[in-house]
Amino acid sequence: MIKIAVLGYGTVGSGVVEVIEKNKDIVNKKSGEEIEIKYILDLREFPGDPYEDKVVHDFSRILADDEIQIVCETMGGVGAAYEFTKQALSAGKSVCTSNKELVAAHGPELLALAKGHACNYLFEASVGGGIPIIRPMNYSLTAERIEAVTGILNGTTNYILSKMEYEGADYDTVLKEAQEKGYAERNPEADVEGHDACRKIAILSSLMTGKNVDYRKIYTEGITKVESRDFEYAKQLGMSIKLLALSKEVENKTVAMVSPFLIDGAHPLHMVNGVFNAVFVRGNMLGDSMYYGKGAGKLPTASAVVSDVIDCARHIGKVLMCFWDAEEADLLSIDRVQRKFFFRVKAEGLAMARELFGQGLEEVSLPGVKEECGIITPVISEADFADRYGKLEGLVVGRRLRIEG
Ligand code: HSE
Repeated sequence: MIKIAVLGYGTVGSGVVEVIEKNKDIVNKKSGEEIEIKYILDLREFPGDPYEDKVVHDFSRILADDEIQIVCETMGGVGAAYEFTKQALSAGKSVCTSNKELVAAHGPELLALAKGHACNYLFEASVGGGIPIIRPMNYSLTAERIEAVTGILNGTTNYILSKMEYEGADYDTVLKEAQEKGYAERNPEADVEGHDACRKIAILSSLMTGKNVDYRKIYTEGITKVESRDFEYAKQLGMSIKLLALSKEVENKTVAMVSPFLIDGAHPLHMVNGVFNAVFVRGNMLGDSMYYGKGAGKLPTASAVVSDVIDCARHIGKVLMCFWDAEEADLLSIDRVQRKFFFRVKAEGLAMARELFGQGLEEVSLPGVKEECGIITPVISEADFADRYGKLEGLVVGRRLRIEG
Protein backbone atom coordinates (compact mmCIF):
# COMPACT_ATOMS: atom_id res chain seq x y z
CA MET A 1 0.00 0.00 0.00
CA ILE A 2 1.17 3.52 -0.80
CA LYS A 3 -0.04 6.29 1.45
CA ILE A 4 -0.39 9.81 0.17
CA ALA A 5 -1.28 13.27 1.45
CA VAL A 6 -3.24 15.97 -0.37
CA LEU A 7 -2.26 19.57 0.42
CA GLY A 8 -5.23 21.89 -0.09
CA TYR A 9 -8.85 20.64 -0.13
CA GLY A 10 -10.12 23.18 -2.62
CA THR A 11 -11.30 22.60 -6.17
CA VAL A 12 -8.35 20.56 -7.44
CA GLY A 13 -7.52 18.88 -4.10
CA SER A 14 -11.09 17.64 -3.64
CA GLY A 15 -10.98 16.54 -7.30
CA VAL A 16 -7.89 14.44 -6.56
CA VAL A 17 -9.75 12.73 -3.71
CA GLU A 18 -12.76 12.17 -6.00
CA VAL A 19 -10.70 10.72 -8.86
CA ILE A 20 -8.88 8.33 -6.50
CA GLU A 21 -12.20 7.27 -4.94
CA LYS A 22 -14.25 6.93 -8.16
CA ASN A 23 -11.48 5.23 -10.17
CA LYS A 24 -10.14 3.26 -7.22
CA ASP A 25 -9.82 -0.05 -9.10
CA ILE A 26 -8.10 1.51 -12.11
CA VAL A 27 -5.81 3.71 -10.03
CA ASN A 28 -4.73 0.81 -7.79
CA LYS A 29 -4.27 -1.59 -10.70
CA LYS A 30 -2.21 0.89 -12.69
CA SER A 31 -0.15 1.90 -9.67
CA GLY A 32 0.65 -1.73 -8.95
CA GLU A 33 -0.31 -1.08 -5.33
CA GLU A 34 -3.25 0.25 -3.40
CA ILE A 35 -3.23 4.04 -3.03
CA GLU A 36 -4.60 5.33 0.25
CA ILE A 37 -5.21 8.96 1.14
CA LYS A 38 -3.96 9.27 4.71
CA TYR A 39 -4.04 13.05 5.19
CA ILE A 40 -5.70 16.10 3.70
CA LEU A 41 -4.06 19.35 4.74
CA ASP A 42 -6.28 22.41 4.93
CA LEU A 43 -6.80 25.33 7.30
CA ARG A 44 -10.53 24.68 7.33
CA GLU A 45 -12.65 21.97 8.95
CA PHE A 46 -15.01 19.92 6.78
CA PRO A 47 -17.77 18.67 9.07
CA GLY A 48 -19.86 15.98 7.40
CA ASP A 49 -17.35 15.39 4.62
CA PRO A 50 -16.62 11.65 4.13
CA TYR A 51 -12.91 12.47 4.47
CA GLU A 52 -13.34 14.72 7.50
CA ASP A 53 -11.22 12.44 9.72
CA LYS A 54 -8.26 12.73 7.34
CA VAL A 55 -8.12 16.53 7.57
CA VAL A 56 -5.09 17.92 9.41
CA HIS A 57 -3.93 21.51 9.83
CA ASP A 58 -0.25 21.00 10.49
CA PHE A 59 2.09 20.04 7.67
CA SER A 60 4.72 18.77 10.10
CA ARG A 61 2.49 15.74 10.83
CA ILE A 62 2.66 14.75 7.18
CA LEU A 63 6.36 15.44 6.96
CA ALA A 64 7.14 13.36 10.05
CA ASP A 65 5.09 10.40 8.86
CA ASP A 66 7.41 7.92 7.14
CA GLU A 67 4.43 6.10 5.65
CA ILE A 68 3.70 9.06 3.36
CA GLN A 69 5.55 8.53 0.10
CA ILE A 70 3.65 10.89 -2.21
CA VAL A 71 2.27 14.37 -1.64
CA CYS A 72 -0.20 16.13 -3.97
CA GLU A 73 0.32 19.87 -3.79
CA THR A 74 -2.93 21.48 -4.88
CA MET A 75 -2.67 24.61 -2.75
CA GLY A 76 -1.42 27.03 -5.37
CA GLY A 77 0.76 30.09 -4.86
CA VAL A 78 4.46 30.34 -4.19
CA GLY A 79 4.45 30.82 -0.41
CA ALA A 80 3.55 27.86 1.80
CA ALA A 81 3.31 25.61 -1.27
CA TYR A 82 7.00 26.29 -2.03
CA GLU A 83 8.11 25.62 1.54
CA PHE A 84 6.06 22.43 1.89
CA THR A 85 7.24 21.14 -1.48
CA LYS A 86 10.90 21.69 -0.57
CA GLN A 87 10.42 19.99 2.78
CA ALA A 88 8.55 17.02 1.29
CA LEU A 89 11.15 16.47 -1.45
CA SER A 90 14.01 16.83 1.04
CA ALA A 91 12.36 14.08 3.07
CA GLY A 92 12.28 11.84 -0.04
CA LYS A 93 8.53 12.20 -0.59
CA SER A 94 7.54 12.70 -4.24
CA VAL A 95 5.37 15.73 -5.01
CA CYS A 96 2.70 15.93 -7.75
CA THR A 97 1.36 19.39 -8.45
CA SER A 98 -1.06 21.48 -10.47
CA ASN A 99 0.69 24.68 -9.35
CA LYS A 100 1.99 26.38 -12.51
CA GLU A 101 3.13 29.46 -10.64
CA LEU A 102 5.45 27.42 -8.45
CA VAL A 103 6.67 25.20 -11.28
CA ALA A 104 7.43 28.24 -13.47
CA ALA A 105 9.17 30.09 -10.63
CA HIS A 106 11.20 27.23 -9.09
CA GLY A 107 11.02 24.24 -11.46
CA PRO A 108 14.75 23.50 -11.85
CA GLU A 109 15.46 23.89 -8.13
CA LEU A 110 12.63 21.54 -7.14
CA LEU A 111 13.56 18.99 -9.81
CA ALA A 112 17.16 19.00 -8.58
CA LEU A 113 15.97 18.61 -5.00
CA ALA A 114 13.81 15.62 -5.99
CA LYS A 115 16.70 14.05 -7.89
CA GLY A 116 19.01 14.51 -4.90
CA HIS A 117 16.56 12.66 -2.67
CA ALA A 118 15.63 9.81 -5.05
CA CYS A 119 12.06 10.97 -5.50
CA ASN A 120 10.08 12.91 -8.12
CA TYR A 121 8.55 16.32 -8.73
CA LEU A 122 5.83 15.87 -11.35
CA PHE A 123 3.64 18.61 -12.78
CA GLU A 124 1.43 17.26 -15.59
CA ALA A 125 -1.55 19.31 -14.35
CA SER A 126 0.35 22.60 -14.37
CA VAL A 127 -0.12 23.16 -18.12
CA GLY A 128 -3.29 22.44 -20.06
CA GLY A 129 -5.15 21.00 -17.01
CA GLY A 130 -6.13 17.46 -17.95
CA ILE A 131 -4.43 17.48 -21.36
CA PRO A 132 -1.37 15.26 -21.47
CA ILE A 133 1.39 17.60 -22.60
CA ILE A 134 4.19 17.46 -19.99
CA ARG A 135 4.52 13.69 -20.36
CA PRO A 136 4.58 13.86 -24.20
CA MET A 137 7.25 16.58 -23.99
CA ASN A 138 9.29 14.57 -21.44
CA TYR A 139 8.90 11.05 -22.80
CA SER A 140 7.05 10.64 -26.08
CA LEU A 141 8.81 13.35 -28.07
CA THR A 142 12.32 12.72 -26.78
CA ALA A 143 13.63 11.76 -30.24
CA GLU A 144 12.55 15.15 -31.59
CA ARG A 145 14.15 18.53 -31.69
CA ILE A 146 11.10 20.60 -30.82
CA GLU A 147 11.12 23.63 -33.09
CA ALA A 148 7.95 25.32 -31.91
CA VAL A 149 5.19 25.05 -29.35
CA THR A 150 2.05 27.12 -29.88
CA GLY A 151 -0.74 26.88 -27.38
CA ILE A 152 -4.12 28.11 -26.34
CA LEU A 153 -3.28 27.69 -22.69
CA ASN A 154 -5.93 29.71 -20.88
CA GLY A 155 -9.56 28.63 -20.84
CA THR A 156 -10.95 31.88 -19.43
CA THR A 157 -9.59 34.06 -22.23
CA ASN A 158 -10.46 31.50 -24.89
CA TYR A 159 -14.02 31.46 -23.59
CA ILE A 160 -14.19 35.28 -23.70
CA LEU A 161 -12.71 35.51 -27.21
CA SER A 162 -14.98 32.73 -28.53
CA LYS A 163 -18.04 34.52 -27.14
CA MET A 164 -16.93 37.80 -28.69
CA GLU A 165 -16.42 36.03 -32.01
CA TYR A 166 -19.69 34.10 -32.14
CA GLU A 167 -22.01 36.56 -30.41
CA GLY A 168 -20.49 39.85 -31.56
CA ALA A 169 -20.46 40.99 -27.92
CA ASP A 170 -17.89 43.41 -26.53
CA TYR A 171 -15.14 42.45 -24.09
CA ASP A 172 -16.65 44.01 -20.94
CA THR A 173 -20.05 42.37 -21.45
CA VAL A 174 -18.54 38.93 -22.04
CA LEU A 175 -16.16 39.25 -19.09
CA LYS A 176 -19.05 40.14 -16.77
CA GLU A 177 -21.05 37.15 -17.99
CA ALA A 178 -18.02 34.86 -17.62
CA GLN A 179 -17.60 36.07 -14.02
CA GLU A 180 -21.28 35.44 -13.28
CA LYS A 181 -21.00 31.89 -14.63
CA GLY A 182 -17.80 31.23 -12.67
CA TYR A 183 -15.62 30.93 -15.79
CA ALA A 184 -13.64 34.03 -14.84
CA GLU A 185 -12.33 35.07 -11.44
CA ARG A 186 -13.67 38.15 -9.63
CA ASN A 187 -10.18 39.55 -10.17
CA PRO A 188 -9.55 38.33 -13.71
CA GLU A 189 -6.14 39.98 -14.17
CA ALA A 190 -3.97 36.83 -14.14
CA ASP A 191 -6.04 35.38 -16.97
CA VAL A 192 -6.99 38.38 -19.10
CA GLU A 193 -3.57 40.04 -18.92
CA GLY A 194 -1.93 36.79 -20.05
CA HIS A 195 0.07 36.09 -16.84
CA ASP A 196 -1.37 32.59 -16.44
CA ALA A 197 -0.56 31.66 -20.06
CA CYS A 198 2.90 33.19 -19.57
CA ARG A 199 3.71 30.79 -16.66
CA LYS A 200 2.49 27.86 -18.74
CA ILE A 201 4.52 28.71 -21.85
CA ALA A 202 7.57 29.29 -19.61
CA ILE A 203 7.20 25.68 -18.43
CA LEU A 204 6.75 24.31 -21.96
CA SER A 205 9.61 26.44 -23.32
CA SER A 206 11.88 25.15 -20.57
CA LEU A 207 11.02 21.55 -21.47
CA MET A 208 11.50 22.39 -25.15
CA THR A 209 14.97 23.88 -24.65
CA GLY A 210 16.07 21.86 -21.61
CA LYS A 211 17.12 25.17 -20.05
CA ASN A 212 15.30 27.58 -17.80
CA VAL A 213 13.03 30.07 -19.53
CA ASP A 214 12.35 32.78 -17.00
CA TYR A 215 8.67 33.70 -17.16
CA ARG A 216 9.54 37.29 -16.17
CA LYS A 217 11.41 37.68 -19.46
CA ILE A 218 8.54 36.53 -21.66
CA TYR A 219 6.78 39.28 -23.59
CA THR A 220 3.15 39.12 -22.43
CA GLU A 221 0.12 40.96 -23.76
CA GLY A 222 -3.45 40.12 -22.72
CA ILE A 223 -6.84 40.38 -24.42
CA THR A 224 -8.27 43.50 -22.77
CA LYS A 225 -7.73 45.68 -25.85
CA VAL A 226 -9.36 43.33 -28.33
CA GLU A 227 -12.51 44.96 -29.73
CA SER A 228 -15.63 43.42 -31.21
CA ARG A 229 -14.87 45.25 -34.45
CA ASP A 230 -11.56 43.35 -34.69
CA PHE A 231 -13.66 40.20 -34.98
CA GLU A 232 -15.61 41.72 -37.87
CA TYR A 233 -12.35 42.10 -39.77
CA ALA A 234 -11.22 38.61 -38.69
CA LYS A 235 -14.45 37.16 -40.09
CA GLN A 236 -14.00 39.06 -43.34
CA LEU A 237 -10.51 37.53 -43.58
CA GLY A 238 -11.64 33.98 -42.70
CA MET A 239 -9.60 34.26 -39.52
CA SER A 240 -10.09 34.08 -35.78
CA ILE A 241 -8.51 35.90 -32.82
CA LYS A 242 -6.88 33.72 -30.15
CA LEU A 243 -4.63 34.39 -27.19
CA LEU A 244 -1.58 32.36 -28.19
CA ALA A 245 1.34 31.41 -26.03
CA LEU A 246 4.23 30.45 -28.21
CA SER A 247 7.83 29.44 -28.11
CA LYS A 248 9.95 29.04 -31.23
CA GLU A 249 13.52 28.49 -32.26
CA VAL A 250 14.69 31.55 -34.18
CA GLU A 251 18.35 32.20 -35.08
CA ASN A 252 19.39 29.34 -32.73
CA LYS A 253 17.74 31.13 -29.83
CA THR A 254 14.30 30.90 -28.27
CA VAL A 255 11.51 33.39 -28.73
CA ALA A 256 8.67 33.08 -26.24
CA MET A 257 5.64 35.31 -26.03
CA VAL A 258 1.95 35.60 -25.15
CA SER A 259 -0.29 37.80 -27.27
CA PRO A 260 -3.62 37.90 -29.08
CA PHE A 261 -3.08 36.76 -32.67
CA LEU A 262 -5.15 36.59 -35.80
CA ILE A 263 -4.99 33.00 -37.02
CA ASP A 264 -6.11 31.62 -40.32
CA GLY A 265 -9.17 29.36 -40.64
CA ALA A 266 -6.90 26.53 -41.79
CA HIS A 267 -4.75 26.64 -38.62
CA PRO A 268 -5.44 23.64 -36.34
CA LEU A 269 -5.85 25.98 -33.34
CA HIS A 270 -8.64 27.84 -35.14
CA MET A 271 -11.27 25.31 -34.05
CA VAL A 272 -10.29 25.38 -30.36
CA ASN A 273 -13.18 27.23 -28.78
CA GLY A 274 -14.69 28.01 -25.39
CA VAL A 275 -12.87 26.82 -22.30
CA PHE A 276 -10.89 24.23 -24.25
CA ASN A 277 -7.10 24.39 -24.51
CA ALA A 278 -4.77 22.95 -27.11
CA VAL A 279 -1.04 22.73 -27.66
CA PHE A 280 0.38 22.46 -31.15
CA VAL A 281 3.92 21.07 -31.23
CA ARG A 282 6.26 21.06 -34.21
CA GLY A 283 9.10 18.52 -34.08
CA ASN A 284 11.87 18.22 -36.66
CA MET A 285 11.13 14.54 -37.38
CA LEU A 286 7.47 14.01 -36.46
CA GLY A 287 6.30 17.30 -37.87
CA ASP A 288 3.11 18.63 -36.32
CA SER A 289 1.17 17.08 -33.45
CA MET A 290 -1.60 18.57 -31.36
CA TYR A 291 -2.89 17.93 -27.84
CA TYR A 292 -6.44 19.06 -27.11
CA GLY A 293 -8.84 18.93 -24.19
CA LYS A 294 -10.07 20.51 -20.99
CA GLY A 295 -7.43 22.90 -19.75
CA ALA A 296 -9.06 23.64 -16.41
CA GLY A 297 -11.72 22.41 -14.02
CA LYS A 298 -11.82 20.14 -11.01
CA LEU A 299 -11.82 16.63 -12.47
CA PRO A 300 -9.72 17.18 -15.63
CA THR A 301 -6.97 18.85 -13.59
CA ALA A 302 -7.24 16.28 -10.79
CA SER A 303 -7.02 13.46 -13.34
CA ALA A 304 -3.62 14.80 -14.42
CA VAL A 305 -2.44 15.06 -10.79
CA VAL A 306 -3.52 11.46 -10.13
CA SER A 307 -1.74 10.29 -13.30
CA ASP A 308 1.42 11.72 -11.71
CA VAL A 309 0.64 9.93 -8.43
CA ILE A 310 0.45 6.67 -10.38
CA ASP A 311 3.74 7.45 -12.12
CA CYS A 312 5.38 8.11 -8.74
CA ALA A 313 3.89 4.93 -7.29
CA ARG A 314 5.31 2.91 -10.18
CA HIS A 315 8.74 4.44 -9.67
CA ILE A 316 9.31 4.53 -5.93
CA GLY A 317 13.03 5.11 -5.31
CA LYS A 318 13.67 5.89 -9.00
CA VAL A 319 14.10 9.32 -10.50
CA LEU A 320 12.14 10.02 -13.68
CA MET A 321 14.19 12.01 -16.18
CA CYS A 322 13.21 15.60 -16.83
CA PHE A 323 15.52 17.81 -18.86
CA TRP A 324 15.13 21.25 -17.34
CA ASP A 325 18.41 22.73 -16.17
CA ALA A 326 18.80 25.82 -14.05
CA GLU A 327 20.96 27.38 -16.79
CA GLU A 328 19.14 30.29 -18.42
CA ALA A 329 17.89 29.70 -21.96
CA ASP A 330 19.18 32.09 -24.60
CA LEU A 331 16.13 34.23 -25.37
CA LEU A 332 15.86 36.33 -28.51
CA SER A 333 14.09 39.66 -28.23
CA ILE A 334 10.74 39.63 -30.00
CA ASP A 335 11.92 42.81 -31.80
CA ARG A 336 13.82 40.53 -34.20
CA VAL A 337 10.88 38.31 -35.06
CA GLN A 338 9.35 38.73 -38.50
CA ARG A 339 5.65 38.40 -39.17
CA LYS A 340 2.63 40.15 -40.70
CA PHE A 341 0.58 42.58 -38.61
CA PHE A 342 -2.99 43.80 -38.80
CA PHE A 343 -4.16 47.24 -37.78
CA ARG A 344 -7.06 49.59 -38.34
CA VAL A 345 -6.48 53.02 -39.75
CA LYS A 346 -8.81 56.00 -39.98
CA ALA A 347 -9.80 57.01 -43.52
CA GLU A 348 -7.64 60.13 -43.27
CA GLY A 349 -4.58 58.00 -42.38
CA LEU A 350 -4.87 55.50 -45.23
CA ALA A 351 -2.57 57.37 -47.63
CA MET A 352 0.13 57.60 -44.97
CA ALA A 353 -0.28 53.90 -44.05
CA ARG A 354 0.20 53.02 -47.73
CA GLU A 355 3.33 55.15 -47.85
CA LEU A 356 4.74 53.69 -44.63
CA PHE A 357 4.13 50.01 -45.34
CA GLY A 358 4.64 50.15 -49.10
CA GLN A 359 4.09 47.36 -51.58
CA GLY A 360 2.68 44.12 -50.30
CA LEU A 361 0.24 45.86 -47.98
CA GLU A 362 -3.32 44.48 -48.13
CA GLU A 363 -6.42 46.56 -47.42
CA VAL A 364 -9.59 45.12 -45.88
CA SER A 365 -12.89 47.00 -45.79
CA LEU A 366 -16.02 46.17 -43.86
CA PRO A 367 -19.33 46.53 -45.71
CA GLY A 368 -20.86 49.93 -44.97
CA VAL A 369 -17.86 51.16 -42.93
CA LYS A 370 -16.33 54.27 -44.48
CA GLU A 371 -14.49 55.84 -41.55
CA GLU A 372 -11.78 53.20 -41.19
CA CYS A 373 -10.05 50.42 -43.04
CA GLY A 374 -8.06 47.32 -42.03
CA ILE A 375 -4.45 46.91 -43.10
CA ILE A 376 -2.36 43.75 -43.30
CA THR A 377 1.32 44.55 -43.55
CA PRO A 378 3.91 42.59 -45.49
CA VAL A 379 6.22 40.39 -43.36
CA ILE A 380 8.23 42.80 -41.24
CA SER A 381 10.16 42.69 -37.95
CA GLU A 382 8.46 43.69 -34.69
CA ALA A 383 10.89 46.56 -34.28
CA ASP A 384 10.37 47.83 -37.80
CA PHE A 385 6.61 47.54 -37.46
CA ALA A 386 6.60 49.43 -34.15
CA ASP A 387 8.66 52.19 -35.68
CA ARG A 388 6.39 52.68 -38.70
CA TYR A 389 3.14 52.15 -36.79
CA GLY A 390 4.23 54.77 -34.25
CA LYS A 391 4.28 57.35 -37.04
CA LEU A 392 0.54 56.83 -37.50
CA GLU A 393 -0.23 58.04 -34.00
CA GLY A 394 -3.72 59.53 -33.83
CA LEU A 395 -4.61 57.95 -37.17
CA VAL A 396 -5.17 54.37 -36.00
CA VAL A 397 -8.14 52.79 -34.22
CA GLY A 398 -7.89 50.12 -31.50
CA ARG A 399 -4.73 48.09 -31.08
CA ARG A 400 -2.68 46.27 -33.71
CA LEU A 401 -2.85 42.48 -33.83
CA ARG A 402 -0.10 40.06 -34.77
CA ILE A 403 -0.80 37.44 -37.43
CA GLU A 404 0.34 33.87 -36.82
CA GLY A 405 1.29 31.51 -39.62
N1 HSE B 1 -7.47 30.25 -14.96
C1 HSE B 1 -6.95 29.14 -15.70
C2 HSE B 1 -7.63 29.10 -17.06
C3 HSE B 1 -7.17 27.89 -14.93
O1 HSE B 1 -8.60 29.84 -17.28
O2 HSE B 1 -7.19 28.36 -17.94
C4 HSE B 1 -6.30 26.73 -15.34
O3 HSE B 1 -4.94 26.97 -15.17
